[in-house]
Amino acid sequence: MRYHGSVHRALLSTAAIGAAALALAACGSSDDDGDTAASTGAATSASTAAADSGGGEAQKVAVLLPDTQSSVRWETADRPLLQAAFDAAGVPVEIHNAQGDKSAQQQQAEQAITNGAKILLLTNLDSGSGAAIQNLAAAKGVKVIDYDRLTLNGKADYYVSFDNVKVGELQGQGLVDCLEAAGVEKPNVAVLNGSPDDNNATLFAQGYNSVIDPKFESGEWVEVADQSVPDWDNQQALTIYEQMLQKADNKIDGVLAANDGLANSVVSAQKARKLDPIPVTGQDATLQGLQNILVGDQCMTVYKAIKAEAEAAAQLAIALSKGEEPPAGLVNGESDDGQRQVPSVLLTPVAVTKDNIADTVLADDFVKRDELCAGKFAKACEEAGI
Ligand code: BGC
Repeated sequence: MRYHGSVHRALLSTAAIGAAALALAACGSSDDDGDTAASTGAATSASTAAADSGGGEAQKVAVLLPDTQSSVRWETADRPLLQAAFDAAGVPVEIHNAQGDKSAQQQQAEQAITNGAKILLLTNLDSGSGAAIQNLAAAKGVKVIDYDRLTLNGKADYYVSFDNVKVGELQGQGLVDCLEAAGVEKPNVAVLNGSPDDNNATLFAQGYNSVIDPKFESGEWVEVADQSVPDWDNQQALTIYEQMLQKADNKIDGVLAANDGLANSVVSAQKARKLDPIPVTGQDATLQGLQNILVGDQCMTVYKAIKAEAEAAAQLAIALSKGEEPPAGLVNGESDDGQRQVPSVLLTPVAVTKDNIADTVLADDFVKRDELCAGKFAKACEEAGI
C-alpha cells in the first residue's frame, strides 16, 4: 500500500470537504441557478456535477455495509449519514448490511444489480469476497466505489476513506502520551490488532507500530503480547485479552486496541478481574468509547468524520452516474490495491481525549451531548467541562 503526497493531501482534504458541502448545499436548494457556486473553481465544478445529475436523473446506488459486530459505526453512523448524503445529493439509494456473511453480501450485490443499481458502494468483508463482487459488477457494467476499506486486487473505480496510516499513528502517539501521564516506569504493553483480513487493520498497524516499536526496541516499554482479532470480533477480543492477562500475571499497564469495540473488551476484562483502569486506545468515537474516556477507563479514540466520508461518496456516485470527472479537489490521493492505483478521497482523522471531546465530536454533532452525558455520565461530563 502506497500513498502519495501526504502533505498536499492533508491540505486538500479541507477544500474537498468544502467543495462537497457546497455541492450538497447547492443541490438542496430547488431553484439553484449556480450563483452560490460562482465564488471558487472547486465549488463551481462541484455544483455543476450535482446540477448535471438533474435531480432525479442520478443512477441508483446500492450500499453494501459489512456487519454490526465489528463496530457499531456501520449502523449508528454510516447508514444514517449515507442515507442523508445521498438524499441531499438527489441520488436514489438502497442500503444493505451483510451481518458478517460474505455470501450474503454477494447475494445483496447481485440482487441490487438485478434491481437496477448502477453503482455499488462496497465495504468488503475481506479482499477476496470484495474482488468477487467487483468482478461481477464489472461484467454487468456496474461501477464500484470502495467505501472505507480498500479491496486488494479489485476493480474499484474510486476509494473513499481516511488516511488510515495516520489513524494508527494517532493511536500510537495517544498511547505514548497516556502512559507518560500515568507515569509507569517500563510499562508492560499489549497490542490488540484489528482483523487480519481487513486492509485497514494492516494500515492502522503500520501507523502505530512506527510509533511504538521503537519503544519496545529501546527497552523503554516491554511488549507482553501482540495479537490480531479475527473479524474484529469483540467477544473473541475479550477471550484473547483474558489470556493475555493470564499470561502476564495481570501485569499489563497499557493496551494499543485498534478500535473502540476492542478497547471495551479490554475494559470489561480489567473490571471483571477488579484491576485498576489502564491507558487503552480506540477508534471510531463511538458513544461507548467516548463514555469510557469520560470515566477514565479508556484513554483516547480516533474520530473519523463519517459525514464527510458519506458526502464524498455521494459526490463520486454522481460523477460516476454521469460519466464525469468528480468535483475538483475531491479526489486527493491514490491507493495501491496491489495491481492498480485507485483514485482516492482520503480524509483526515482526529485524536480525541477527554480534553477535546467538546471541540470535536460534539462540535461536529457526531454525538449528542444528551446521549453522551446521560445518567451516570452526567457527573463525568460536568467534571470534564462538557
Ligand atoms: C474501519 C473502522 C472499524 C473497523 C471494524 C475498519 O475497516 O475503518 O472504523 O472500526 O473496520 O468495523
